[in-house]
Amino acid sequence: MRRNIIVTGGAGFIGSHVVRLFVEKYPDYTIYNIDKLTYAGNLANLKDIEDRPNYRFVKADVCDFDTMLGIMRDNDIDGIIHLAAESHVDRSIKDPFTFARTNVMGTLTLLEAARRAWEGRYEGKMFYHISTDEVYGALGFDSTLFTENTRYDPHSPYSASKASSDHFVRAFHDTYGMPSIVTNCSNNYGPYQFPEKLIPLFINNIRHGRPLPVYGKGENVRDWLYVEDHARAIDLIFHKGKAGDTYNIGGFNEWKNIDLIKVIIKTTDRLLGRMEGESERLISYVKDRAGHDLRYAIDASKLRDELGWKPSLQFEEGIEKTVRWYLDNQQWMDNITSGEYEKYYEDMYCKR
Ligand code: NAD
Ligand code: DAU
Repeated sequence: MRRNIIVTGGAGFIGSHVVRLFVEKYPDYTIYNIDKLTYAGNLANLKDIEDRPNYRFVKADVCDFDTMLGIMRDNDIDGIIHLAAESHVDRSIKDPFTFARTNVMGTLTLLEAARRAWEGRYEGKMFYHISTDEVYGALGFDSTLFTENTRYDPHSPYSASKASSDHFVRAFHDTYGMPSIVTNCSNNYGPYQFPEKLIPLFINNIRHGRPLPVYGKGENVRDWLYVEDHARAIDLIFHKGKAGDTYNIGGFNEWKNIDLIKVIIKTTDRLLGRMEGESERLISYVKDRAGHDLRYAIDASKLRDELGWKPSLQFEEGIEKTVRWYLDNQQWMDNITSGEYEKYYEDMYCKR
């Protein structure tokens, strides 16, 4: 079956994996990657598929209503997978306005453009919004998990902006009947992640013998999922999910930051031919992130029971693959960490 699908934010970390999966798996679909190419957007993430006949790249801002409507109308778009966002919590603490603009207004702009483009004829259409577990707030150190019914309780400007965008998506379903789905996923890791995020940042710092800034006591817990497993879940839900529904996506894989950091250190040291654990001396406890949520943990049993999804990779395997990828792709990393990013890095991590 022919389909015309927009993926927003396809030049970013998760988006690039989603674009690659769809372009390779569905030769009859045309995939329109709409990305503004902010600091986090990188076309090098898609080098291997950029010449495929069913792939188109459009450099555009999701907040630009006329351009979004034009792309939807001109290309008979029937599906939208919306990942474009400002995604880094620390940046949201410094600059909340940009997060409200892109994450809230950008999502609303796309929704309204889709409503106009589809003119109430919603048969065969889908607006799929990618969101985060951070909208649910923080858990304590017990066995509680976030379910699809957990009350929203965002704490950071990032999670507040994502929560607001989720509400707009549901409002368009309830008010206008737009077929839409929201998924809330836990922390992703894997190739092509921007090195402001914990795992690629630490792998790169270990490689260069730089300090590893652990926020607070390193006791916060995150639930980690290999990015290709997230992309597979998105594919499944886009095709089989129920309009109007929400699905949580997670790996049932909780790690205390400091324990995860030690695994990254051991793996990176080993793959660099150093003594395992040698780089633990680089650990540097720094001031905690403001409003740092203690623990996130996703209950992904609805997705497992209703659609049969489960993560394909064991964590040990995923981490090994990830560290190996960053060490094998040093040029990719060096192209990012030179120039502008270097200045940001200095401000963010060295002047705490
Ligand atoms: P990322 O920061 O790596 O990529 C974001 C992409 O969006 C970039 O390519 C950027 O250029 C693009 N973009 C930003 N503003 C834009 C705009 N105004 N118009 C068009 N494009 C714009 O982000 P990511 O980590 O890949 O996250 C993707 C999505 O998944 C986000 O919506 C995020 O909230 C969500 N999410 C991320 C994680 C995670 O662990 N990374 C977990 C759950 C949910
Ligand atoms: O839970 C899903 C979310 O995961 C996504 O919605 C976000 O887009 C994504 O960025 C990620 O958010 P986190 O804040 O959890 O990811 P980050 O990699 O920034 O941090 C992971 C944990 O490590 C967190 O507890 C903060 C801590 N940390 C992070 C950095 C960058 C450190 O201790 N030191 C660091 O230098």
